[in-house]
Amino acid sequence: MAYINENYFKLPGNYLFAEVARRVLAYRETHPAADIIRLGIGDVTLPLPAVSVEAMRQAAAEMGHRETFRGYGPEQGYDFLINAIINHNYKRRGLTVEADEVFVSDGSKSDCGNIQEIFAIDNVVAITDPVYPVYLDTNVMAGRTGALGPDGRFAGVVYLPSTAENGFAPSLPETPVDMIYLCCPNNPTGTTLSRAELAKWVDYARKNDAVILFDAAYAAYITEPDVPRSIYEIDGARDVAIEFRSFSKTAGFTGTRCGYTVVPKTVTAKAKDGSRHPLNPLWNRRHSTKFNGTAYIVQRGAAAIYTDEGQEQVRENIAYYMENARIIREGLTAAGYTAYGGVNAPYIWLKTPDGMTSWEFFDHLLQEKNIVGTPGAGFGPCGEGYFRLTAFGGREDTEKAVARIKEG
Ligand code: MLT
Repeated sequence: MAYINENYFKLPGNYLFAEVARRVLAYRETHPAADIIRLGIGDVTLPLPAVSVEAMRQAAAEMGHRETFRGYGPEQGYDFLINAIINHNYKRRGLTVEADEVFVSDGSKSDCGNIQEIFAIDNVVAITDPVYPVYLDTNVMAGRTGALGPDGRFAGVVYLPSTAENGFAPSLPETPVDMIYLCCPNNPTGTTLSRAELAKWVDYARKNDAVILFDAAYAAYITEPDVPRSIYEIDGARDVAIEFRSFSKTAGFTGTRCGYTVVPKTVTAKAKDGSRHPLNPLWNRRHSTKFNGTAYIVQRGAAAIYTDEGQEQVRENIAYYMENARIIREGLTAAGYTAYGGVNAPYIWLKTPDGMTSWEFFDHLLQEKNIVGTPGAGFGPCGEGYFRLTAFGGREDTEKAVARIKEG
């Protein structure tokens, strides 16, 4: 008899973005002529940087010749990409990351979801609320939580409200926690933690023997100087933090898939017998057992963004999205909405009008304005009464959506 993992029963029906897609599809079936503008899931719309396309073309050609063909690569990623990542994102900023601390993958969603496997099942998880659903859902699946309560919270999880009232800077937990997920710039609120705020978390983790799981997928969108691009800019973070990075939003790789995780060899946790162990070999073991490496062609495409030309092209794309963010944010404000984010991140987080719930506003926007966004409640109980729009649309669609919202 095979039994199932009943932890899956604890989860609400669909993954958030699958639920949004389902509702949009249902609406489209009854309204086939509707001109629907999609500002829901944070998926890029600009094509890949030309340097990446060219690098992938060349790599594909290499794969077509016996002399240059490659089969399995190193599970952790090719040196050419790892070295480019380290030089560009860390060394240049005076930060130390060693080659065997970087694990290239098929994207940070997978890594953020899988990292919990190397931690004990009875660890207490802390998440900010609202939050990117992957952190929580994967811990629910693993059995690290109790049931979902009527307040929308899973038993056993420590929720850290991150709201307009506290300036989107959550307070430190009042009860002990072991694994802390932080996302900065934040998905969904589009807000950030200052250097001083982040230092508080590093200090907490050091004093309480906790590990910070730091998702920096949107680091390339930071414009303000006081916002750290990497948690390793904070003294002592190399002892307590794992960092996730992605080429998805940085370089348009949402469909191409490439990301990486940094696990410093200095990050440790305890075994039940009290002995202390580095997490790096555990993640390496997991990665090399369950993952066979990101495609060579894709890694070549990713490495190309670190050339001068590549950086120029990436900057142009990011500037395009951030101009969309400005248009949305200013348009919403002019229309009388309260909006946050959109300065260091491609997300705008708005207060729903007239006391509507997030899903009521979702239906209203879809049906009355033919605009798709993401209901804040889907990101956690503190997201109720909020709504997320992404700046990843095309310019024309973005302007059209703002005009429709402004019409009232
Ligand atoms: C989002 O819309 O929050 C993101 O696109 C989801 C993701 O990156 O997986």
